[in-house]
Amino acid sequence: MHDVANENDVWVFGYGSLIWKADFPYHERRPAYIHGWTRRFWQGSHDHRGTPESPGRVVTLIREPGAVCHGMAYRISAETLGPLDVREKNGYLREVTPLHFTDGEQAEGLVYIATDANPAFLGAASYDAMARHIADSHGPSGPNSDYLLNLADALRAMGVEDVHVFTLAETLEARIADDPRPV
Ligand code: SIN
Repeated sequence: MHDVANENDVWVFGYGSLIWKADFPYHERRPAYIHGWTRRFWQGSHDHRGTPESPGRVVTLIREPGAVCHGMAYRISAETLGPLDVREKNGYLREVTPLHFTDGEQAEGLVYIATDANPAFLGAASYDAMARHIADSHGPSGPNSDYLLNLADALRAMGVEDVHVFTLAETLEARIADDPRPV
C-alpha cells in the first residue's frame, strides 16, 4: 500500500535514543541534519537510564554557531506526538527546526531539546567522569551504558562522525575492560 503524506503528518528529528529506539509508529524515516546545534551527554535521566535519586546521563542539544548535528528524521502522524512527549518528558521541550535531508531536500520539523533551564540538566564534565557516571547508572529502560553504546553504533552505521559520542564510548569501553564489574 502506498503511504501518502497527510497534512497532519509532522517530521520529528531524533539525535539520541530516537535514532536507535524507534518504538513508535512512523510512516517514513530518513537521515537528516540540523544546523547550529551540537549533541552532548549533558542531560540527566531520571526516568529511563537512571532514577530521581541517581540520574543517568543522556544527550541533549547545545547551541553552537556553525555546528551540524546529524540524526534521523521520522514522518509521524500528529497523534504520535502525545506518546513521544511522554517518552521525552524529563526536561525535553519540542522546538521547531529547519531539517535538511541528506539527499538535499528540506522540511520543517520538531526536535526535543532539554535546555540548561530544566531541573534535570547536568552540564559538562570530563570524559572520564561522564564515562564513570554512565557505567554506574541504570534506570527503568536499562543500563545507561546501552544508551551510549547503541547511539555510537547507530551513528557509525549511518557514517556520522561524532567526536563527543565516540570519545565517550571509547572511554566507557576502556573503563569496562579495566574494571569488568557488572554494569
Ligand atoms: C532524541 O533522541 O532526539 C532525544 C533524546 C533522547 O530521547 O535520547
